[in-house]
Amino acid sequence: MNCKLFLLAAAGLLCVSVAQYCTEPPYKTRPNFTPAYCNYRLSFKDRVKDLLSRLTLEEKISQLGNSASAIDRLGIPGYQWWSEGLHGVAVSPGLHLGGNLTCTTSFPQIITTASSFNKSLFYEIGEAVSTEARGFADNGQGGLTYFTPNINIVRDPRWGRGQETAGEDPYLTSQYAVNLVRGAQGNDSEYKKIIATCKHFAAYDLESYINGDVRDSFNAEVTKQDLEETYFPAFRSCVTAGGVGSIMCSYNSVNGVPSCVDGVFNNKIARNKWKFDGYLVSDCGAIDDVMNKHHYTSTPTDTVAAGLKGGTDLNCGSFYQTHAMDAFLNGSITEVDIDRAVGRLFTARMRLGLFDLPKYQPYSYFNTDVVNTKQHQDLALQAARESIVLLQNNGKLPLSYEDHHKIAVVGPNILANVTMQGISQVIAPYLISPVDGFKSKGLHVTYSLGCDVKCIVTDGFHDAFKLVKDAKAVVAVMGLDQGIERETVDREDIFLPGLQDKFLLGLRDTLTNLQSPVPLIVVIMSGSSVDLSESKSLADAILWVGYPGQSGGQAIAEVIYGEVNPSGRLPLTFYPGEYIDLVAYRHMSMREPPGRTYRFYTENPVFPFGHGLSYTTFELSWTNKMNNVTEIVISDSVDINIDFDITVVNTGYLSGAVSVLGYVSSNIPDAPLRELFDFDKVFIDKYESKKISLFATNDAFTTVDEKGRRNILPGEYDIAIENLSHKIIIKNN
Ligand SMILES: *[C@@H]1O[C@H](CO)[C@@H](O)[C@H](O)[C@H]1NC(C)=O
Ligand SMILES: *[C@@H]1O[C@H](CO)[C@@H](O)[C@H](O)[C@H]1NC(C)=O
Ligand SMILES: *[C@@H]1O[C@H](CO)[C@@H](O)[C@H](O)[C@H]1NC(C)=O
Ligand SMILES: *[C@@H]1O[C@H](CO)[C@@H](O)[C@H](O)[C@H]1NC(C)=O
Ligand SMILES: *[C@@H]1O[C@H](CO)[C@@H](O)[C@H](O)[C@H]1NC(C)=O
Ligand SMILES: *[C@@H]1O[C@H](CO)[C@@H](O)[C@H](O)[C@H]1NC(C)=O
Ligand SMILES: *[C@@H]1O[C@H](CO)[C@@H](O)[C@H](O)[C@H]1NC(C)=O
Repeated sequence: MNCKLFLLAAAGLLCVSVAQYCTEPPYKTRPNFTPAYCNYRLSFKDRVKDLLSRLTLEEKISQLGNSASAIDRLGIPGYQWWSEGLHGVAVSPGLHLGGNLTCTTSFPQIITTASSFNKSLFYEIGEAVSTEARGFADNGQGGLTYFTPNINIVRDPRWGRGQETAGEDPYLTSQYAVNLVRGAQGNDSEYKKIIATCKHFAAYDLESYINGDVRDSFNAEVTKQDLEETYFPAFRSCVTAGGVGSIMCSYNSVNGVPSCVDGVFNNKIARNKWKFDGYLVSDCGAIDDVMNKHHYTSTPTDTVAAGLKGGTDLNCGSFYQTHAMDAFLNGSITEVDIDRAVGRLFTARMRLGLFDLPKYQPYSYFNTDVVNTKQHQDLALQAARESIVLLQNNGKLPLSYEDHHKIAVVGPNILANVTMQGISQVIAPYLISPVDGFKSKGLHVTYSLGCDVKCIVTDGFHDAFKLVKDAKAVVAVMGLDQGIERETVDREDIFLPGLQDKFLLGLRDTLTNLQSPVPLIVVIMSGSSVDLSESKSLADAILWVGYPGQSGGQAIAEVIYGEVNPSGRLPLTFYPGEYIDLVAYRHMSMREPPGRTYRFYTENPVFPFGHGLSYTTFELSWTNKMNNVTEIVISDSVDINIDFDITVVNTGYLSGAVSVLGYVSSNIPDAPLRELFDFDKVFIDKYESKKISLFATNDAFTTVDEKGRRNILPGEYDIAIENLSHKIIIKNN
């Protein structure tokens, strides 16, 4: 195992063990003291009320930061709220590596998993990550409150954290959020396996662009229509269908109000409208930013007041802990404001079972052997296999192990290992790079980088070009890495970096001059869209692999050699490079010409959202005979639920999986060009068929007007499920 390599990086981080706070028998922490808050027979509400009644104001305030203090007098240990688990339990203040547990499973980066368009996979990864989280927590090496998932919408391809999200589509992102959160938090009605955090609320998708906008001071100007139609839906689903236990407010302001003090977002919309009943945590340092970056408040006490009253219960940071007493003393806040926040925080800790004996709750006690199991490693591999997107194939793929036994693997990402994990580093037991992947298949592999990812100089090109002369196939692994796109770093252009296109051109020239040219396969690693126009004209086949996690190299080799039939679809529009000159980075508008994302972009993309090829062919037909048109008459309380039953036949010579995507478009003025309303994925053996169903409910027919109102309006709606179509006419009664 390789994990030790990373231990240095993790050393020095705060170690907090999760202990049971009330101990047997019968819940005594000192003689003759059997408090109600320890009584598991009482409701969490009554127990929290009892606990609050025992705490001093200082003790309460000490709970308002991510490093919550111990209350020794009552036997309550400290708690570290900050744990990270975007695509596997990752290094964070809440994680203590180096005890019995030193490794975790590294699933693909989220943008990659999203490409699988497989709802069950989202759920199973959530379940696996929370099982590993429990393995750490229950053995004293971690917390139970995870700052995941990131469900912001990728509005602009420059964004460095686009890779952490499920892409540009509100419906796909909602499905990702709901399934991930359900898998992670468990399905018990009282207790939670872990608490997930839907972040960053709201309209956050900018790090540090060249013109000086940085996320901490950025004021996103967003219309009511865009909020309701694009930026809110995944959060609404995360709360209403996912039942998430926590929301994180974002660094940026929206229309002049920093998100963490926005009572309309946090109290009126999330809590009152969506019925969010968990705790709201600030992004780390975001409360400080309210005063020091946004200058929305001018004193610490006013800032604390704005935060607590604006709905942020927990401050990742120590601003509340430092200044809340002053705010109380001069009357900016009352004890009620503090109790509300502290009450929500202790309710969360109780829901996690921290005050109860293992025998009274469903999610304790996990052994250390649940971490990094063979089953989880297999799931990481399956996720990578299912998510690779075949963008182009001029008939040269799949390669054959016999005919293409000797291959040249070239390009800056051929040895990518840590790069394959993307942001949020997980301490994986092994990382299979592309070169390792090909070697593991017993192939004769020669390899040469050509250049590094930035690809500034051509010195290494010649070595790489030389190798391809003796090979039966050439795989060029190109793309980006965390040096180009990551948290705090946005891209300045959306082409392949530096001279990478020139490298591909050189490869193509070298091959063209050979007596019998061999296939050139281009593999792109990146967390967001790249202009691949040049690759498109030079390559025989192109794969987009995102950042495919610990087993990425193996999955890439298996797809190229046809052991795995590719089934990923793009969760993003791949725009031409000039696109970013046409859309101002700080403009949040989705409709401003030429429009953002497939829902509004009116020009030709290099590769569209939803694009993805297979080695086999699928044919779709309606399972039951359908009229071409359905009429629906709506009244005030319309409840639409149309079931589209489809038979999918695998008509090719290879078995494979297919994601079937259903879109709706309409003649309502100002409506998006088209929108995904449902999808399903099935595996079908060659020459076999399967039946699936897609569902169109009220949401599919809802349009959002300029005032942000959601309506189902009379009009004509076109349903497109791959190449099947159906018209729905909605009429007023
Ligand atoms: C941790 O490892 C030690 C030594 O191998 C062992 O005695 C102990 O039981 C382990 N603890 C857990 C929680 O697995
Ligand atoms: C709850 O989750 C567990 C663990 O995944 C599963 O076995 C069980 O079937 C689920 N129960 C329900 C009612 O969904
Ligand atoms: C509390 O004190 C701060 C300055 O320390 C001031 O800005 C704020 O207005 C005061 N609030 C009240 C209610 O006096
Ligand atoms: C990643 O690859 C580099 C270069 O091949 C190697 O030096 C490094 O040890 C690898 N790291 C891990 C964690 O496998
Ligand atoms: C229904 O659609 C099919 C296929 O597009 C077309 O051939 C047929 O004419 C349509 N029928 C009606 C009644 O519109
Ligand atoms: C979707 O993911 C689930 C869960 O990992 C898996 O069992 C299933 O085979 C996947 N479906 C397809 C069609 O690949
Ligand atoms: C959809 O495409 C398949 C194959 O590409 C074709 O056989 C089928 O007739 C098409 N169906 C419709 C409704 O156009």
